Amino acid sequence: MDIDDIEQITVLGAGTMGHGIAEVAALAGYEVVLRDINDDLVTEGYEEIEWSLGKLAEKERISDEVAETTLERIRPVVDIEEATANTDVVIEAIVEDMDIKQEVYADLSEAAPEDAIFASNTSSLSITDLSEATDRPEQFCGMHFFNPPVRMELVEVIRGEHTSDETMDTVVDLAESFDKTPVRVRKDKPGFIVNSILVPLMNEACWLVESDTATIAEVDSTTKYDMGMPMGAFELGDQVGNDVTLHVLEYMHDVLGDVYEPCPLLQRYVENDRLGKKTGEGFYDYENGGADVPADQTSDEVRERLLATLANETGKLIEKEVAPPADIDEAVKLGAAFPSGPAKQCDEAGLDGLLGKLETLHEETGAARYEASDGLRTAAADGGFYADDGEDGNDEDRAGPTSSTRSVSSTPARWSGRSSSTGPTSSTRSISNSSRSSSRHSTRSRPTTTCGQSS
Ligand code: 3HC
Repeated sequence: MDIDDIEQITVLGAGTMGHGIAEVAALAGYEVVLRDINDDLVTEGYEEIEWSLGKLAEKERISDEVAETTLERIRPVVDIEEATANTDVVIEAIVEDMDIKQEVYADLSEAAPEDAIFASNTSSLSITDLSEATDRPEQFCGMHFFNPPVRMELVEVIRGEHTSDETMDTVVDLAESFDKTPVRVRKDKPGFIVNSILVPLMNEACWLVESDTATIAEVDSTTKYDMGMPMGAFELGDQVGNDVTLHVLEYMHDVLGDVYEPCPLLQRYVENDRLGKKTGEGFYDYENGGADVPADQTSDEVRERLLATLANETGKLIEKEVAPPADIDEAVKLGAAFPSGPAKQCDEAGLDGLLGKLETLHEETGAARYEASDGLRTAAADGGFYADDGEDGNDEDRAGPTSSTRSVSSTPARWSGRSSSTGPTSSTRSISNSSRSSSRHSTRSRPTTTCGQSS
């Protein structure tokens, strides 16, 4: 299957991510089938898309006409055979349960055309294991979007053990045609790149509150107004869904051990159905004003603890060769709208100090999550995550040729020779709308939109 062969996309699951992905695909000009297990769920998802398109039009990110034609491209369906009979790509965004997903993939294998590609939006589950539940593991990969899909620019494209090069290339092209920036994830590791950084950060934010070291207001004030994240850590947790964060953590805990022991605070919020925006209440009350993050409660201790967590997790991704520092930074900036990537932020804060902080916390608490990773120790000894590569993580070093285009990260020296995170043929890729709309899908009407760009 080539990108030019793709006309119809089926999205399985009409929840937050599923309907968001369906909206993105329809905005890109594809015919989209949105499928869920009953009429209520699929109608709810469809109505959410209608709301979102209305909001994008209200904010003048798209025109009213584009909103209308985009909605017309989406067909809500319940029957799985009807949903997949003529489809080219199935993007699965159903509940994060390996058994349920495997059952659905078995049904899907029977219903979908032989050459259709299957891509899973799983936040963390093994792409290899999921692919083995299908009749086409080589036509299977991860395609991980970020919440809200219509606003977040990144798509992680994850290779499982059986994924063919052709499938990877087609899904990378598909993500680009969605006006997203794909990053290839080289290892099928729980959490891939961005959740491997964000989810432990969220867990540590919870441990800070659970241990009475800080309040939710102090953590969010620090993350938003000192570290420059677009939302406070707890506000982001509410946006993503506390059940989703807990699920990723539990999976990382199962597969990778006690380092990822979920904080009881997070477990209590989930047990009490305080899942975040989607249930009206999480760490903040969305029926009564929502998140109200104070600008004046920043804390040096919170900042240092969270940066130490970022440094440790960044070190693990590098040590395990999941991605080099520049790709980690690029992915986190695009997937979570960080102003600066974790490797760069931690280099600037000083790795020696962050390593020392982890060692002190480990001595004091004995908790596995404070064991410093080899990747962090090596980088600290080298003088920084970027020290070895002659890069300092400055965006200017990777800037595209004009101000209206931006390149994806270049590959640092010690990673050269391995496949790049960028597109299949180039080490830099323009993501300007104009260049993309004139490339593929010349026969499909493709609205010009800025809604894929995170602001
Ligand atoms: N569609 C359309 N509009 C939407 C929307 C959607 N899906 N979601 C929110 N909006 C609207 C809001 O209703 C609001 O409208 P209002 O002003 O009329 O109330 C408006 O968008 C807010 O947009 P702004 O541009 O004014 O606000 P921001 O500049 O704060 O941008 C944001 C919002 C893009 C969400 C920004 O806060 C952000 O980037 N946050 C970080 C999100 C993030 O990190 N996501 C990744 C999480 S990890 C993940 O998803 C992985 C998974 O596996 C767990």
